[in-house]
Amino acid sequence: MRFSGKTVIVTGAASGIGAESARLFAREGAVVFASDIDRAGGEMLANEAQGDVRFVHCDVTNPASIKALMDQAASETGGIDVVFNNAAAGGARPSIDEIEPEEWDMTMDLVLRSVAFGIRYAVPHMKGRPGASIVNVSSVAAVGPGYSPTAYAVAKAGVLHLTKCAAADLAQHSIRVNAVQPGFINTNIFTTSMEVPEEMKDTAKGIIAQMSSNAQPVKRGGQPLDIAEAVAYLASEAAGFVTGTSLIVDGGITVGPRHCWDPEEATLFEGLEKMEEEAKAVAAGQGSSN
Ligand SMILES: NC(=O)c1ccc[n+]([C@@H]2O[C@H](COP(=O)([O-])OP(=O)(O)OC[C@H]3O[C@@H](n4cnc5c(N)ncnc54)[C@H](O)[C@@H]3O)[C@@H](O)[C@H]2O)c1
Repeated sequence: MRFSGKTVIVTGAASGIGAESARLFAREGAVVFASDIDRAGGEMLANEAQGDVRFVHCDVTNPASIKALMDQAASETGGIDVVFNNAAAGGARPSIDEIEPEEWDMTMDLVLRSVAFGIRYAVPHMKGRPGASIVNVSSVAAVGPGYSPTAYAVAKAGVLHLTKCAAADLAQHSIRVNAVQPGFINTNIFTTSMEVPEEMKDTAKGIIAQMSSNAQPVKRGGQPLDIAEAVAYLASEAAGFVTGTSLIVDGGITVGPRHCWDPEEATLFEGLEKMEEEAKAVAAGQGSSN
């Protein structure tokens, strides 16, 4: 019961990582304000979760909506202890040579500004609360290209830098700020962004799980609980000495190129190894003739 008596905000809580995190915080004693634009999904979560989960409609692209969420949670419980800035979607998909200004702005508002104002409007209710902690969702897409569309990747990199800057700004109030960087986690984010019809979603999720487990050292698809556990750690007292950093939880997909960890792909250095063997043989031959 790491969060007994704590008030926890989770944005984007109707699905995937947010839903699993809201369940975990509530199981461990928190009063969870689970917010989302998906009213039906959010209400279902609140009804079915074990513990105290309260759904609040909130659109994180609208700062006034974020402020209303934080104010409501504080007025119902007396303050806020933990904020998990999780809500986002894949954003605009065009590459940098084709994206339109409004697509760029929409992605930044959804993925980056949402986190900034999740912090901005929660902090007045967090000051003076022992163990106050903020966790933001970035992504392996922040590490480099190739994991997501460009605008999303840039916004997620912004979330990492925002996390550090906010950790510095809020140190004087003893509020810790950290990020988590998920790898491929099997949620609705891919099917939503690819506009996969409802009847194909299960098939698509199977393909995504298979694809991701093939692409990384850990041979299974990532699950929302993998991220929820990391978020709970960062939000908890066990991470009391941790601020301004980011935890990559990705099945190892970012450890390095495939030939580093997959013996079947280790062909890159074959020529070098052959040359080393030949050099040894030559040296041995020279040794025996002496
Ligand atoms: N799934 C992955 O592989 C992965 C990888 C890296 C990062 N992430 C990040 O994890 C977070 C959660 O994503 P997920 O994979 O659980 O996706 P998901 O689609 O399952 O859940 C996202 C939730 O956010 C909500 N949402 C979308 N727009 C919103 C808005 N404007 N206001 C409020 N809520 C909104 C959706 O309704 C949905 O319930 C996102 O920030 C995503 O970018 C996911």
